[in-house]
Amino acid sequence: MNLNTDVLVIGSGIAGLFTALKVSEYADVILVTKKNKTESNTNYAQGGIASVIDKNDTFEKHIEDTLIAGAGLCGKSAVELLVHEGPDRINDLIEIGTNFTRKEGKLDLAREGGHSMHRIVHAKDFTGREIERALIEHVLSSKRIQVIENALAIDLITEHNIKNLKDEPLNNRNCWGAYILDIFKKSVFTITSKATVLATGGLGQVYLHTTNPYIATGDGFAMAYRAGARIGNMEFIQFHPTSLYSEETSLTTPSFLISEAVRGFGGILKNKAGECFMEKYDSRKELAPRDIVARAIDSELKRTGDEFVLLDVTHKSKEEIIDHFPSIYEKCLSVDIDISKQPIPVVPAAHYACGGIVVDEFARTSLKGLYACGEVSMTGVHGANRLASNSLLEAVVYGYRAALDIDKLIKVTQTTRVDVPEWDDSGTLSHDEKVLITHSIKEIKQIMWDYVGIVRSDLRLERAASRLHNIFLENEQLYKRTKVFEDILELRNITTCAHMIIKSAQMRKESRGLHFTLDYPNLLEVAENTILQNTNP
Ligand code: FAD
Ligand code: SIN
Repeated sequence: MNLNTDVLVIGSGIAGLFTALKVSEYADVILVTKKNKTESNTNYAQGGIASVIDKNDTFEKHIEDTLIAGAGLCGKSAVELLVHEGPDRINDLIEIGTNFTRKEGKLDLAREGGHSMHRIVHAKDFTGREIERALIEHVLSSKRIQVIENALAIDLITEHNIKNLKDEPLNNRNCWGAYILDIFKKSVFTITSKATVLATGGLGQVYLHTTNPYIATGDGFAMAYRAGARIGNMEFIQFHPTSLYSEETSLTTPSFLISEAVRGFGGILKNKAGECFMEKYDSRKELAPRDIVARAIDSELKRTGDEFVLLDVTHKSKEEIIDHFPSIYEKCLSVDIDISKQPIPVVPAAHYACGGIVVDEFARTSLKGLYACGEVSMTGVHGANRLASNSLLEAVVYGYRAALDIDKLIKVTQTTRVDVPEWDDSGTLSHDEKVLITHSIKEIKQIMWDYVGIVRSDLRLERAASRLHNIFLENEQLYKRTKVFEDILELRNITTCAHMIIKSAQMRKESRGLHFTLDYPNLLEVAENTILQNTNP
């Protein structure tokens, strides 16, 4: 079964669904997603989506807060686009029926770390789930969108897949679609398209402790890298300061997030001895940007030798707590913590990739016909550290802009390529030793957590690079002689992402935003992005 369409969208989180919906106003879309359509980082988003709504708020303040968090590396024009177009995109979401929480008829605006104003539009503490619901309802009712679930994109189709075009220079390459694995049938098919949108989300699963669900194996970053697209700032991995501490670590179950909005609501961080410690680290205390709060907790844990710190909301009324945070209240109660009476044990966890596939103001990558939106992209909005709740906003603002550009592109693109070769798996065998794969994934996650985490050093990065290199060689051998299946593809992508994070971290000889290294504790005068490009795809 090979398919052809105007636009192929890969991923069914906010970025993929929103872009598909906008494109479907003028073209046919196939949207593939590797699990069921709701499984995405988006579905777990709690706090909300930032935008200038309050009459006392201004675009300038939201821009300034974003630039401050980004520590000198944001693209100013990208931030301006985000902030100026934000309110219109929030209206788009409301128009398709997203039920955001209201107070006396008006949108209820919460506050989170790094924001100088109340500007977080939310649906209680399950904002992502509500947005997914509304988007999916509309996508499914569109006659121009075909959704294919359990369809995992393996690789992009560009010149590098076609024998006599392999040597085309990198700056002249096109994307004509992707090879897709039908997970249930275990067969590979091709989808060719005039435009392709990567909306594959994040890569939290590269780390041992993460708030991201298991789909977040960095597939889009790795596919784009293999195809020769430019990738930037991969060292800036955001660790969320507060995930629920659990004694058990599972390879597949993510850490449950305790939203930043809980600190915005008045939650106080304490160590196990009951001392409030944030003032020692930053005058903004609990509402300092995330990198500062995560490092403060990390430092407190190292100093005390404790496994977790405490987030306390017991000074708030039970009714208010349940009204604002019904999911968090229920989840904690399920592990015998009544948060109206007991503080919550929390630890940092890998949460968000600020870097990604480099795109311009219309979400265009360096490969013609390939767009990237949402967490997988690097628009310039987040710089060295993302401001809370700017991610969902970025996905809709840049998804919308991608749709504007794709409209123009497909009008001048007459046909898609017909001579794309079939997936070639001759000489490979089915693989039944899954333990080799799960063990490699475990090893990588542990290496990344221990050596490429909140605090880094040259020695730790070197050690990570050499350990990863051996795992890479073993896995490539296995990949070459095995028929593709889900786990081996995800392992390959996790390995590639780990490589890119380590390499970028080694390139940055300073501490900036989310990248903190003991060997270069200061800022360099000139702020530069780190760019990677696979020159031999
Ligand atoms: P996702 O929502 O992750 O969607 C990616 C999609 O791609 C999924 O459908 C996945 O299955 C699919 N996919 C991946 N690889 C492949 C492949 N190879 N083939 C086919 N399909 C593939 N941000 C905020 O702004 N506000 C918040 O309150 C907030 N809270 C968060 C809470 C949690 C617990 C987490 C984890 C993140 C939170 N974030 C928040 C970040 C935000 O949710 C994500 O950055 C955002 O949802 C990413 O959207 P996306 O569409 O880019 O990717
Ligand atoms: C949260 O609710 O703390 C997550 C917000 C975000 O990641 O932007």
